[in-house]
Amino acid sequence: MKTGLKTLIRPAGRDAAEAAARTLAAGGLVAFPTETVYGLGADAANAVAIAHLYAAKGRPAFNPLIAHVADLAAAKRIGRFDARATALAETFWPGPLTLVVPKTDDCPVAELATAGLDTVAIRIPAHPVAQDILRAFGGAVVAPSANISGHVSPTLAAHVEADLSGRIDLIVDGGQVEVGVESTIVGCFEAPMLLRPGGLARERIEAVLGAPLARPPADLESDSIQPLAPGMLASHYAPRAAVRLNARDVEPGEALLAFGPARSPGCEAAAAVMNLSPTGDLDEAAANLFGYLRALDAKSPRGIAVMPVPEDGLGEAINDRLRRAAVAR
Ligand code: TXA
Ligand code: MG
Repeated sequence: MKTGLKTLIRPAGRDAAEAAARTLAAGGLVAFPTETVYGLGADAANAVAIAHLYAAKGRPAFNPLIAHVADLAAAKRIGRFDARATALAETFWPGPLTLVVPKTDDCPVAELATAGLDTVAIRIPAHPVAQDILRAFGGAVVAPSANISGHVSPTLAAHVEADLSGRIDLIVDGGQVEVGVESTIVGCFEAPMLLRPGGLARERIEAVLGAPLARPPADLESDSIQPLAPGMLASHYAPRAAVRLNARDVEPGEALLAFGPARSPGCEAAAAVMNLSPTGDLDEAAANLFGYLRALDAKSPRGIAVMPVPEDGLGEAINDRLRRAAVAR
């Protein structure tokens, strides 16, 4: 993890928005106010920046993140909006509502931010400081709440500072936020589903839909929603090929997902080889994880052998996802 960073704190304004945009473009981490809670932002297209973001939050788990955009045109470059999603977006955006929709074919959001799912969570925040930063930056910004994992969500810049000082590049101080709880999350599936209650009341959403929102199958805590995809409840990204963990060698016909400098016996005969990080850098490995699994799976190998990945830093989250991929079939 990157620690010992010097965290700048700037009052909101034009200079701060431009500094935030520059920092995001350079792969840095910027905390900023939204109307719900302070978010910790990274460039949605930069997988390495997103890996640093998970690391900065501590106790990393690759929960999929919300992509924040400035307007509906930008949202539609990321996600596909059917009639109901469009109605909700047009009624409640900008505002404290997040919509989970299928990704577009050329969705620019990094696989790490969507945890390899085919869906993406999108929100247009109403806070003028968030709007200024998104416009100055130009692209989508993924942002979980700007707190250490397990702590309550921050409603003041001072809360962010207490949790994340030394771990992120910039905090834009826009004073106390208005709503104080996270956005309401609706999955725009066959039956629109309330994935997380939040700052927008369920009744107002149901009034627009003209029908009650479906309930999610499992009991959900605000920080640990099961990622859901249309038609596939509680699914995690799972390759079609069988995943074999802690592999020390490669069997004929298998693809190899390598880690670190060591060569695995049998790798010359592998169907394909990709190395998460030849130097053994866990942040780089996290950034590559879902994209490489997909790329190897696309070669239709007999199976995917995965070399051992250490449990420290982001390794814990990497191994968690690999274990799920291995049992998910
Ligand atoms: O108000 C908010 O929503 C704040 C501000 C910063 O926008 N953000 C926030 O993010 O609360 P976070 O990461 O703390 O919560 C996002 C939730 C997670 O529980 C995650 O599982 C869910 O959104 N989520 C993201 N993508 C999803 C997807 N494709 N399918 C289902 N759930 C998803
Ligand atoms: Mg949170």
